[in-house]
This record gives sequence, structure tokens and C-alpha cells, in this order.
Amino acid sequence: MGQDEGRGQSAALAGARATALALEANVRRVIQGKDEVVRLALLALHAGGHLLIEDVPGTGKTVLARAIARSLDLRFRRVQCTQDLLPSDVTGVSVFDPRTLDFTFREGPVFTDVLLADEVNRATPRAQSALLECMEERQVTVDGQTHPLTAGFFVVATQNPVELEGTFPLPEAQLDRFALQVRLGYPDPADLAVILEDQRRGHPLDALAPVAGAEDLRALRAAVAEVALDASLRRYVADLVAATREAPGVVLGASPRAALWLARVGRARALVLGRDFALPDDLQAVAHAVLDHRLILEPRARLAGRTAAAITDEVLAQVPVPVVPTGPPPGP
Ligand SMILES: Nc1ncnc2c1ncn2[C@@H]1O[C@H](COP(=O)(O)OP(=O)(O)OP(=O)(O)O)[C@@H](O)[C@H]1O
Ligand SMILES: [Mg+2]
Repeated sequence: MGQDEGRGQSAALAGARATALALEANVRRVIQGKDEVVRLALLALHAGGHLLIEDVPGTGKTVLARAIARSLDLRFRRVQCTQDLLPSDVTGVSVFDPRTLDFTFREGPVFTDVLLADEVNRATPRAQSALLECMEERQVTVDGQTHPLTAGFFVVATQNPVELEGTFPLPEAQLDRFALQVRLGYPDPADLAVILEDQRRGHPLDALAPVAGAEDLRALRAAVAEVALDASLRRYVADLVAATREAPGVVLGASPRAALWLARVGRARALVLGRDFALPDDLQAVAHAVLDHRLILEPRARLAGRTAAAITDEVLAQVPVPVVPTGPPPGP
């Protein structure tokens, strides 16, 4: 690698990091006391994946999703998921045009850059699968015609915990399509006091302005892909994922797709922290957000109080951590 190339790379990295930090700072203006969650949520965006936010009502899920969308100067649409939402309400529909005597495709809300699928587990399985197919394939096929979605298509879905009434839990195969899942949790009293004051005259979200656009996002994602992930770390990812499948009480462990996201999100974290190489710490720090929602436990294990988070913790404690060379690569 020539010197200029090295400099060009570090300039791209610095630019990408600046975008990431600006987005983070912007979202924190409306979400109080959840800096780690905000960072994780944005890593899904940087890594090019989709984000699932799960929590009980009133914990800022919709506001977090909207704040991420607002922070990007991109097209944004929202689908409120309900039991009567039809697949065509999501993807779009062919309509007959009496003037041309032909069918034309009327685009559904997925034809956007950032899509907020609010309360996704209130939609019926058919509507959910229509959405989740778009997420994976980044295209819509209606009446044999394929319509591509935008390159940067990013879904932020929110859901209430599955135990709540009137919900259709997302099946495992669909949960797997989210790069990561975060939980917000209640703000602590000091933060809640700040929230009360913030909303005295209106919602701070209404005053939130974009801080990055499509080109910044494209550059950010390209920079994430350039972050080095040492061979020992790739093996570490593979070992972590394999260990989830062998853990006692697990019916379904993490898939190869999970491994891909663990690597990508780990790279994104390294970039946000200003490194052009990943460390074991990057993978460990995102492991819960990437893995937990994909692990399905045996009913007996669940009843005995075992959780996906506990399994991820065990796996992290058990799999040997590689020692990664962190200096510059040896010269020629
Ligand atoms: N940590 C937080 N920081 C800032 N505002 C918060 C936080 N937690 C909750 N709020 C505020 O609480 C209100 C409700 O939040 P929001 O509508 O996003 O909840 P939700 O999780 O989407 O609930 P539901 O499941 O009922 O849709 C908003 O005004 C939001 O700003
Ligand atoms: Mg909501």
C-alpha cells in the first residue's frame, strides 16, 4: 500500500467517524440517558442492517426510531402496524388505470430510504412477512414484476415484548433478518426529570434537524467495510456463533447470517471508536445486541429462568479470546 493510499484511507475513516458521531449527538438530543443504546442502534445503520427496538410501552421506541430517521436527510415513511394491515399496504399494489386500460404499480411505503415499522408485532404474520421479505431482498415482486428498493433502504421496527396481548410474535426466521435488537429500558429518575423539562413546550423531536445525507451514509458504510477484521477475529466470530448452538437449553442457536452481522457491526463499532481495525472488545460489546434475539430456548429452559442473554454471556466467557496484532502491518 502506497503512502497516499494510506492517507486517503484515514481521511475517509475520519470523515465517516465524524458522520457517525454527529448522528449520535443528534439522536441524544431527544433520547436521554441511553447513550449506549443509541450508539448500538446506530451501528445497525452504519453496518447496513436493519434495527429492531423492543420494549414496554412509553420507553421512547418510536421517538428513537424517528430521531434516527430525522437525523438523516433521507426520505422517510412510517407504517403503523395493526391487525388489518395488508401485505399490499406495505409493498404496494397493481391498480387498473381505465385511461390506459393497463395496470400500473402504486408503490407502498417500503419505497423510501428509512422506513419506520411501528409496533411490527401487531401486524398479522402475512403482513409481517411481506415487510421482512423486502428487508432481505431489497425488492418487491408484484404480479411477476420486480421493483427494486433504494440501495440504502433501512428499516427501524419497534415492538412490544411478546408477552403483551394482541401481538403476533415475529417468527425466528424473521427476527434473524434484523442486524441487531436493542432495548431502551426506563430512564433513571434524573434523566426523567430532564425529559420533563425538555418537553415543557413541545417535543424536542420537532426541532431536530438532519445532520447527514445519503452521500455521507454511503461513505460511512463503505468505510465500515474497510475496517480490518483479523483472521483470528473472524475465527472468533465463528467460534462464538458455533458455541451458541451447543449451549444447553438452546433449540436454535445463531446462524451464519448472525455471524455476518456480528462481524459487520463489530467493524462499525471499531470505526466509531476511531480505529481502522477491530478488536475482540468490538465483537464482545455488540454480541448481546446481535445474538440474543436470535437464540431460541427450549420451553423447559425458559421456564427454569434461562435467558438468551445468559447464554450469550456464557459463550463470551467460554470461547477463548484471540490476541490480535494491533500495530501497523509489518513493512515489505
Ligand atoms: N429515554 C428517553 N429519553 C427521552 N424521552 C423519552 C425517553 N423514554 C421515554 N421518553 C418519552 O416518552 C414518550 C413516549 O415515547 P414513545 O412514544 O417513543 O414510546 P414507545 O416506546 O414508542 O411506546 P409504545 O410502545 O406505546 O408505542 C415520548 O415523549 C418520549 O420522548
Ligand atoms: Mg411507539
